[in-house]
Amino acid sequence: MAQLWGGRFTKETDKLVYQFNASISFDRKFYAQDIRGSMAHVKMLAKQGILTKEEKEQILSGLQGILEDVDAGRLEISDKYEDIHSFVEATLIDRIGEAGKKLHTGRSRNDQVALDMKLYTRDEIREVDGLLKELLKVLLTIMKENTETFMPGFTHLQKAQPITLAHHMGAYFEMFRRDRSRLYDIYERMNYCPLGSGALAGTTYPLDRAYTAELLEFYGPTRNSMDSVADRDYLIEFLAALSTVMMHLSRFSEEVILWNSNEYQFVEIDDAYSTGSSIMPQKKNPDIAELVRGKTGRVYGALLSLLTTMKGIPLAYNKDMQEDKEWTFDAMDTAKGCIALFTGMLRTMKFRRERMEDSAKNGFTNATDAADYLVNRGVPFRDAHGIVGQLVLYCIEKNAALDDLSLEEYRAVSPVFEEDIYDAISLKTCVEKRMTVGAPGQAAMEKVIAVYEDYLRDSEKTLA
Ligand code: ARG
Repeated sequence: MAQLWGGRFTKETDKLVYQFNASISFDRKFYAQDIRGSMAHVKMLAKQGILTKEEKEQILSGLQGILEDVDAGRLEISDKYEDIHSFVEATLIDRIGEAGKKLHTGRSRNDQVALDMKLYTRDEIREVDGLLKELLKVLLTIMKENTETFMPGFTHLQKAQPITLAHHMGAYFEMFRRDRSRLYDIYERMNYCPLGSGALAGTTYPLDRAYTAELLEFYGPTRNSMDSVADRDYLIEFLAALSTVMMHLSRFSEEVILWNSNEYQFVEIDDAYSTGSSIMPQKKNPDIAELVRGKTGRVYGALLSLLTTMKGIPLAYNKDMQEDKEWTFDAMDTAKGCIALFTGMLRTMKFRRERMEDSAKNGFTNATDAADYLVNRGVPFRDAHGIVGQLVLYCIEKNAALDDLSLEEYRAVSPVFEEDIYDAISLKTCVEKRMTVGAPGQAAMEKVIAVYEDYLRDSEKTLA
């Protein structure tokens, strides 16, 4: 019996093992980086006299041809190779013959893949930084136009104190600015070249690692060959940074969704960024914001996945580390898409200023200011708090705002109130009086806006 299917079983198993092991379906993503790394390696080998000048020229033009052909769609990255490294090398040998067989001198796939992933990630970090910068520009534009757009500020999702739209947007400016500074830090730490580390213990060839590092625009070579092939910290850091970006975008999305609802009507999402319902004709749904909020989990998943993959790996390279790619690529693409779409949505979103202002008026957001009014006239704060509390209760019964009460009604609760109470609790006064650094008062806000303009203009300590 066994004989009957034994041969076939072995064959099937081999195929499965091969597929299980292969990474070409996803590491094809960094073919350009793989070729770029190989070119630097070959230039260095020739400089060190390990390859002849002719061999170098042949290999370089062969690699260049492969790059151009793949770019142009003339050469397909075939699944019959195990990984992108084998594909490039085999294609090179096919095309240029003997010299191609020397490409892998003094190199292992372990330092090769470590390099490719770093080169790829480095570009991604820059791209994400650029996208965040665009988002910040949109935020700054909204801020500049809305230093006097009053709205309620919330705590516990209850109207708390009046703020301005500029102030609210400024909070997000701070978040995304911090995100950019995290990317900068990661870049500074990761930008060292692992090439030349070999499988784990360096090589016996007289490689010039500083030269390859320089050709590939790294700050220098890494300093421990075992760590070089086993380090994926920078990916974990990047995924953590992307997770934080997504968390910020998700919170922002949540607010956009609320503000776009019929109950708030603070904003109107542009038609281009909303969708309809197949059954309810009245609906205009904030799908983009919901999807951004929803996709946050995917990026967190990638971070958790890689942390878990890495936690039990002994030095140096182990095949587990091949798992650093799929989720990471997905997280990078997801985050980039989300930032870009969110930016577009924000840029085209209409803010309904009257609705915001009305909402700030009708939620007792000026109650603290009414209490402060009394304090400024000698009433102890605790008593002032009680007096205004009574007035609020009275207003709720009358379905009125503090601004609507007559002076008699005020004085019936406390004789300290005078005609100037109305001015003291107007939204404009409430906001304008808040002029400490970081507060919503227009003067304070203008100073912050100037700082943000400088920040976006001169790119010190940022990547873009
Ligand atoms: N596909 C592998 C990875 O992504 C490349 C390195 C293979 N190295 C090895 N010793 N099998 O990690």
